[in-house]
Amino acid sequence: MSELVAQVRAWAGSAQRIAVLTGAGMSAESGVPTFRDAQTGLWARFDPQQLATEEAFRANPSLVWDWYAYRRDLIAKVTPNTGHLALADFGRRHPARLTLITQNVDGLHQRAGSAGVLALHGNIFEDKWVDAPKACCKQDAAAAGRPPYCDRCGNLLRPAVVWFGEALPLQTLDEAQAAAKSCDLMLVVGTSGVVYPAAGLAHMAGGRVVIVNPEPTELDDAADAVLRGTAAQLLPALLAD
Ligand code: APR
Repeated sequence: MSELVAQVRAWAGSAQRIAVLTGAGMSAESGVPTFRDAQTGLWARFDPQQLATEEAFRANPSLVWDWYAYRRDLIAKVTPNTGHLALADFGRRHPARLTLITQNVDGLHQRAGSAGVLALHGNIFEDKWVDAPKACCKQDAAAAGRPPYCDRCGNLLRPAVVWFGEALPLQTLDEAQAAAKSCDLMLVVGTSGVVYPAAGLAHMAGGRVVIVNPEPTELDDAADAVLRGTAAQLLPALLAD
């Protein structure tokens, strides 16, 4: 174990409150592609930043629905990695010391057994109506389609995730900010740190900030330590008792 890893492990061991902020890199070793790394395969020519907007959905609902259907299928087939499991295990051993905040919509932290996850960007497996629902809009009775729709008024279902330009769920963001301010250690794992307000949590941290990422990030300059490694490699070492 490197000296720096041992140092951060000691910080984690003595911290009363640890906030962990995770991004797409957290799930990379489970086989879920990140947003800003090179994409491969069928959807390589589509830029996630162009697809993950309400404007894109309204312009081409089938295209955006199909992209999410593809990601839902992919995520349903993968499993949490040792990084997710290390966080869930730490949370079980020290429930009062850990707040887990994620930008990921894949639900892998929850499937690994983490409780009380603050999912800033929603859940890819849920839907909501794109326009304010009327009495006729019933999710269970939506007509089949890409996307499904209300056969009375034509309202469309869309994934219940936070798209670019949309507000984060207020209470979840409040709780995440409170956890950031009151922590004495924040681990920032697998995020490029370019999307706000999530990235802003690292700037609010009341205690030390540690980056866990194999590549440079926008938050490295604000950190007390930068660990160049992967989530699945480093988290089990950092969070062992
Ligand atoms: N372990 C840790 N980090 C990794 C790993 C790994 N195995 N593999 C890749 N990474 C890092 C990359 O180096 C990069 O810094 O994960 C980061 C992924 O960055 P992004 O693709 O930008 O994902 P994220 O920061 O989560 O994006 C934020 O943007 O598209 C929106 O709403 C979406 O939640 C997402 C948000």
